[in-house]
Amino acid sequence: MTSAAPGLDPESHQREALERIAAAPNEGSLEELRVEFLGRKAALSEALSRLGSLPPDQRREKGATLNRVKAALQQGLDVRREALRSAGGGTLAAAEAIDLTFPGRSPRRGHPHPVMRVWREMEDIFRGLGYDVARGPEVDNDYYTFEALNMPAGHPARDGFDTFFTAVDGAGTDDTTETRVLLRPHTSPMQIRYMETHQAPIRVMIPGKAYRRDNDATHVPMFHQVEGLVVDEGITVADLKGTLEYFARAMFGDRRRIRLRPDHFPFTEPSLEVHVSCMQCDGSGCVLCRHSGWIEILGAGMVHPNVLRYGGMDPERYTGFAFGCGIDRVAMLKYGIDDLRSLFENDVRMIGQF
Ligand code: DAH
Repeated sequence: MTSAAPGLDPESHQREALERIAAAPNEGSLEELRVEFLGRKAALSEALSRLGSLPPDQRREKGATLNRVKAALQQGLDVRREALRSAGGGTLAAAEAIDLTFPGRSPRRGHPHPVMRVWREMEDIFRGLGYDVARGPEVDNDYYTFEALNMPAGHPARDGFDTFFTAVDGAGTDDTTETRVLLRPHTSPMQIRYMETHQAPIRVMIPGKAYRRDNDATHVPMFHQVEGLVVDEGITVADLKGTLEYFARAMFGDRRRIRLRPDHFPFTEPSLEVHVSCMQCDGSGCVLCRHSGWIEILGAGMVHPNVLRYGGMDPERYTGFAFGCGIDRVAMLKYGIDDLRSLFENDVRMIGQF
């Protein structure tokens, strides 16, 4: 240690020390230099401690010089330490070290909601059969929702739709079937709207939201339906059955079968309930199908002549079939979800599973 000589030359000592500090390769060696230059046994410290033995006038001058050197070295050490730290080098504590080879955190990828997945799958299936895909208004009126679907005012079947009526359209307007505004309780009004604007042959599926005053494990106030409508010359129940069997297999697997049971809807005659063989037990009976081997998946039927007439089609020439299927219900069956409400609570722990 050359600088430890009693006759310490402040200038050369400072220069030499600052050069070595600036070249320190890491924080460990920097700490060694701090001890060497500013520690208790450092030449500078010893020179400072000897100041007391000097005559007062020399003491002041020498003291100021030595303290300037000390401050310069301190600053040099601080600057070098900062530089080493921000360069990420040096001997950082293990916990602080940055491992540039460590794999990054991949961002979480989302996916479509199970209801949207089934919605799109249904569109794909029917597009594959040559169907048009149409959308219609969620806010509709009494005429399209009931009247033109063969449910005139006072028809008892209207009660079953638990409709949200909003208002009579326009102040001072008469309360008529056209002005009575509501949230559609089913997608069937689109049968009429579509027939009004299209010619036969018609093959259309209309997915969308519908609304009812309902709320329990199998009903929510906003839900999703697909309406299907086929109108042409010579359409029969055999077309309906073949189409819906194809749909059931495309959606739930090749092993599925369907069966038809009589039902009643004012807008179809005859009306049918379509059941699919249970996708969980393959028809042998389980909790899901309530030990019957069959699960109801949709309502359907041959379009009522009055409905064809309301849609502007001649029932003497054309026949057709229609169906209405709950998208949420299909999603529940497909993914084994037992509470419909859980689909709409937006809990990613639930939705992320599918
Ligand atoms: N609109 C009926 C409902 O929401 C479902 C339905 C049944 C639609 C039979 C149809 C049909 O097109 O033919 O309950």
